[in-house]
Amino acid sequence: MCGIVGAVAQRDVVPILVEGLRRLEYRGYDSAGVAVIDGDAHLARTRSVGKVRDLEARLDGHMAGATGIAHTRWATHGRPATENAHPHICRKTVALVHNGIIENHEELRRAQTKLGFEFTSDTDTEVIVHEIYRHLADTHDLLEAVRRALPALRGAYALGVITSEAPGRLVAARRGCPLVVGLGIGEHFIASDVAALLPVTQRFIFLEEGDVADLTRERVTIYDASGQIVERPVKQSELSADAVARGEYRHYMLKEIYEQPRAITDTLTNRIGLHHVYDEAFGTGAAAIFDTIEAVQIVACGTSYHAGLIGRYWFEALAEIPCSVEVASEFRYRRPRLAPHTLFVTLSQSGETADTLAALAHAKTIGVEHTLAICNVPESALVRQSGLALLTQAGPEIGVASTKAFTTQLVALLLLVASLGRRGHLGGDGERRIVGLLRTLPVLTEQALSLDAAVQSWVPAFANKQHALFLGRGTQYPVAMEGALKLKEISYIHAEAYPAGELKHGPLALVDADMPVVAVAPGNELFEKLHSNLQEVRARGGELFVFADAKNGITADERTHVITVPPTDDLMAPVVYTVLLQLLAYHVAVSKGADIDQPRNLAKSVTVE
Ligand code: F6R
Repeated sequence: MCGIVGAVAQRDVVPILVEGLRRLEYRGYDSAGVAVIDGDAHLARTRSVGKVRDLEARLDGHMAGATGIAHTRWATHGRPATENAHPHICRKTVALVHNGIIENHEELRRAQTKLGFEFTSDTDTEVIVHEIYRHLADTHDLLEAVRRALPALRGAYALGVITSEAPGRLVAARRGCPLVVGLGIGEHFIASDVAALLPVTQRFIFLEEGDVADLTRERVTIYDASGQIVERPVKQSELSADAVARGEYRHYMLKEIYEQPRAITDTLTNRIGLHHVYDEAFGTGAAAIFDTIEAVQIVACGTSYHAGLIGRYWFEALAEIPCSVEVASEFRYRRPRLAPHTLFVTLSQSGETADTLAALAHAKTIGVEHTLAICNVPESALVRQSGLALLTQAGPEIGVASTKAFTTQLVALLLLVASLGRRGHLGGDGERRIVGLLRTLPVLTEQALSLDAAVQSWVPAFANKQHALFLGRGTQYPVAMEGALKLKEISYIHAEAYPAGELKHGPLALVDADMPVVAVAPGNELFEKLHSNLQEVRARGGELFVFADAKNGITADERTHVITVPPTDDLMAPVVYTVLLQLLAYHVAVSKGADIDQPRNLAKSVTVE
């Protein structure tokens, strides 16, 4: 989703802003722009549709200034076009970048038009810059103008604002969208996330809901939602500037797929003893809370939702704890009834997904007492707003298609199953088994990665297809859903997943020679059932692509392609088979020349509804 960078310094900030935008590219965008206050105290702006490199080509050393803001835009209101790109400027005096959505923009636009403001874009954002200008004309104080303007806005925002009236000043505000302040020496910055600023600082302040920050070269002053000056903790980031580099890999997605053995190891480190899971891994007071838990409600979106669906099988089968899973955008608008003593679990890579945050808030309003976030970003709103948290240690995930965040979420869910289950049916022995298996997972994941060349050999069968079906049973059904999502989002091939037993209730009608059918077939008690379903596909002339456990003994023939997977315990199979499906989606998308790390229309961090 939109990315913001801003800086106030003594040196020219344009290179810092452009590098920051490049580092935010992964969030997804369709246009970019930068505005600075130049040496004559005038606002200068350059915008372009397309990539940051297109913006850079336009800039080509023509613009310089010591105070500036920049933006990558992901279109919501108004098509991707130069006039809709940020920064937006009012009367050559105020420039603004915005992430989020202003819900009452039409109302404000009507009122401002009556006051004589001219609109040059179709965005919801432009009303903010006019509103700030209106108050600046009265107060001649940028901070005061922003603070007076904010109450008129309904919706979500992270903002960066500069004015030619105060060349050494940058004002920022957040409500509903993430924003960090980066602290330098004699220079300060803002950005949507720390990755943008790692080349210039590793010291950050994470703004809280309703905060307004006033930045000059000398100081950063933060005001909370009630207008009081507050001290927010300064966090030292452990990420180095090249932690988000692509290294030798052609795409971030491939790098992140290959990082999974390491990410899983890191997620287990300090969370497990020899035979058990440390309750403290979930946060202070987790043990006492877990003693009271009788049910689990999981809420998430997209790939994280798929992880939750797999978790449900485990909570119910292993820990014998009732578990429901729902997509956040549905949960937040239902009137859900949760059983007493329910643990409300949110899953999210970014921790900033608007629907998941709203679902968490909704859960609290209906009386949920105990909340746990499984999340990859320690400073995210989701972690801050949850009672307990287990941080996945996947490291920054840059590719829009989530990979290592998903498999580490599965690891985190198994830790939770072991911890809650120990208190009941699963007992110490069951916990010991889970912990023992988890220790083998990094090696199993390496083994799956070693099948990369075999997976690539299937690519020609998919590259020219319009559709694909994915089949699985049990925990492999959500794995199939995840495989289908990966394929559709990065290769634009329409892919659907079905529980294999559902085929004959409708989707079988679609099967023909042009519909590749992918099946995930680990060696479990459901294999025979799955095998029968695959015969149904074969009998209708369908072409099968089966990832099968060696012990299943599936044989390949002209229309049945098999990649044999080393024998894997059923509990670890969702991670192992997901890695194979990630590789399949990746290589198919590469063969189609798709934009792997920034698929069209998608954003990494979905901070709007
Ligand atoms: C798909 C993908 C998305 C995200 C979803 C939730 O590859 O990445 O479906 O899983 O937008 O995002 P988070 O996990 O950040 O809440």
